[in-house]
Amino acid sequence: MYAVTLDGFGGPEVMRWAEVPDLPPPGPGEVAIDVTAAGVNRADLLQRQGNYPPPPGASEILGLECSGVIAEVGAGVADRRAGERVCALLSGGGYAERVVVPATQVLPIPEGLDTAAAAALPEVAATVWSNLVMRAGLHAGQLLLIHGGGSGIGTHAIQIAVSRGARVAVTAGSAGKLDRCKELGANILINYREEDFVAVLGEFGGADIILDNMGAAYLGRNIDALAPDGQLCVIGMQGGLRGELNLATLLGKRGTVHATNLRRRPATGRSSKAEIISELHRHVWPSVADGTIVPVVSAEIPVDKAPEAHRALDSSETVGKVLLRIRED
Ligand SMILES: NC(=O)c1ccc[n+]([C@@H]2O[C@H](COP(=O)([O-])OP(=O)(O)OC[C@H]3O[C@@H](n4cnc5c(N)ncnc54)[C@H](OP(=O)(O)O)[C@@H]3O)[C@@H](O)[C@H]2O)c1
Repeated sequence: MYAVTLDGFGGPEVMRWAEVPDLPPPGPGEVAIDVTAAGVNRADLLQRQGNYPPPPGASEILGLECSGVIAEVGAGVADRRAGERVCALLSGGGYAERVVVPATQVLPIPEGLDTAAAAALPEVAATVWSNLVMRAGLHAGQLLLIHGGGSGIGTHAIQIAVSRGARVAVTAGSAGKLDRCKELGANILINYREEDFVAVLGEFGGADIILDNMGAAYLGRNIDALAPDGQLCVIGMQGGLRGELNLATLLGKRGTVHATNLRRRPATGRSSKAEIISELHRHVWPSVADGTIVPVVSAEIPVDKAPEAHRALDSSETVGKVLLRIRED
């Protein structure tokens, strides 16, 4: 089969669409998927640079999510069938013609949703749901602050929050991105280059939940921006790994700091990928099927031009997700 290989670690130019050994057939509990499209994630850029090695046992090939058609079903898989259109959460291997993945990480693509577009969903849906709902219990009437509202994660998180009746504040670095966040349902729009999000949130009594991509750079200010009993969910470290936490402020607010990583979760059992995918199927997929929750895709780039896709995501000019097109439907 063909896959994106790396000529060493480095810039986008190290990626090459090249022949690699075929995968073995799916084992018990697994399915093989002929990939139509793969989602591009910020983590892929780090892995390409050599700064985010795959967890033990995961494919060395980039790609944390894909969509396509099931080619083969392993022993013991009762709820999936060959020929079915699906999307999947992966621990790696998505930038390839075929992946083999536990069936518990696969979701059916609802009728009416384009196969390629569905590749934009697994990673953001699993990250957003596991943090905002399974961890923080986001519910109607709460105020959620999403940093990077125009990102892949942000554009999905806005839709989930709105569908649950929460109010949404977002930060972004341009008016264009804030406009798109508003179209998706965000109520409070903060250009982080021009305004202080702590001051803006202060006018509303603070955020009940913050979804944070910046890590260290925003840690102190995020705690300042929390409402009493507020919860900070850190999912990214774009602003560094080590920050200083004022425990007196956190104590005074009875605040909570969560920090989670999706890729390193176990496949099954407590806090696993299987658990999250099952929740998505039950609680989010009906809204995907009826069009309330939509994939937000700003670019679909042929896989042999993978370097272009990484440059696009890195440029911060994209809104929502960038996809790699691997085969036509
Ligand atoms: N923990 C997990 O399991 C998990 C899973 C998936 C993703 N993530 C993380 O979630 C984050 C978003 O992922 P993604 O794939 O959606 O990335 P993405 O589409 O590349 O978005 C990154 C965003 O960061 C924003 N940003 C840059 N500087 C900022 C600042 N100072 N304040 C606020 N926002 C700023 C950019 O917004 P502007 O262009 O408007 O500046 C951009 O929208 C990444 O950090 C990623 O690593 C974590």
